[in-house]
Amino acid sequence: MKIIITGASGLLGSHLYTFFSSQHSVIGTFHSQEKKALLPLNLCNLSDTQAFISTHKPDVIIHTAALTNVDQCNTDLDLAYQLNVQTVKHLTLALQSYPSTRLIQISTDQVYNKAYSKEEDTFPINGYGITKLLGEYIALQHPNTVVLRTNFYGWGQNKPSFSDWIIKTVTSRQPITLFDDVFFSPLYLSQLSHILDLTISTSLSGVYNAGSQDRVSKKEFAISLANELKLDISYAGTGSAKMANMTAKRPTDMSMDSGKLYNALHLMPYTLQSGLRQLAIDQEVITHATN
Ligand SMILES: NC(=O)c1ccc[n+]([C@@H]2O[C@H](COP(=O)([O-])OP(=O)(O)OC[C@H]3O[C@@H](n4cnc5c(N)ncnc54)[C@H](OP(=O)(O)O)[C@@H]3O)[C@@H](O)[C@H]2O)c1
Repeated sequence: MKIIITGASGLLGSHLYTFFSSQHSVIGTFHSQEKKALLPLNLCNLSDTQAFISTHKPDVIIHTAALTNVDQCNTDLDLAYQLNVQTVKHLTLALQSYPSTRLIQISTDQVYNKAYSKEEDTFPINGYGITKLLGEYIALQHPNTVVLRTNFYGWGQNKPSFSDWIIKTVTSRQPITLFDDVFFSPLYLSQLSHILDLTISTSLSGVYNAGSQDRVSKKEFAISLANELKLDISYAGTGSAKMANMTAKRPTDMSMDSGKLYNALHLMPYTLQSGLRQLAIDQEVITHATN
């Protein structure tokens, strides 16, 4: 299969580029962060996007490119609209001549704000959530689209993930406050990659939650991660997100019910513990390989 991965210079895109390259013909794109083997593409430019699609004629596009800085999405709503909505519009317009191309739109759990949200429970409360939800509506105008709402952690090749940040902070004994009132259900990057792999080999379409089956607080996540990696996190403080000084409002419960996706893929739901275990195993392999 020929797969285009937009945002292959980013956290998720770089992981997917490596993952899919072993089995498929993969074209990864970057915008400002030039990376070896990736091709430049500014998705804010319609004619560039149309030319790129008609040159490469992909079977699948995995659209990860976005403005992911939640505060910046509020302070620069125009840029958030350009990157989270217009880029999707340009891809769907470019795909008008290629209706059978599969569009996988990567979206976020930040479109929710209650426990175990199902796909119909959207309630975005900041510019990031609103623009990502608008991007989904646009993506679904293409006849062959799957929207995956997700949250993930793992080893970031080009950009640190939430778990990278916790590991770095705890390892260097920097002060850290763990929120016990913000909940989510993240997937390990390899689990999300496997879900994407299954998704592109089925005829699934529509909107799906792609999270682990467990709802955990950020505090519980950090402690489980530290325990799995045998890091001492006992010195960390506990706090409330309500006390944090953040520009944009954040949802306090982004946990998802992902049953619809697991049923459709005939997949046993992923647990948080299995993802963290795999992360620890991968770390040992990476450490061993680099020593
Ligand atoms: N990170 C998370 O924890 C998280 C959680 C839930 C959902 N998501 C979703 O997952 C997806 C990937 O997130 P991420 O954290 O991996 O993103 P990221 O690391 O912030 O990367 C964003 C990507 O977008 C590219 N990009 C920016 N402007 C562009 C433009 N004009 N044209 C083409 N590409 C452009 C960037 O390219 P350059 O760097 O080369 O400029 C970069 O590769 C996003 O859709 C996000 O909403 C992320």
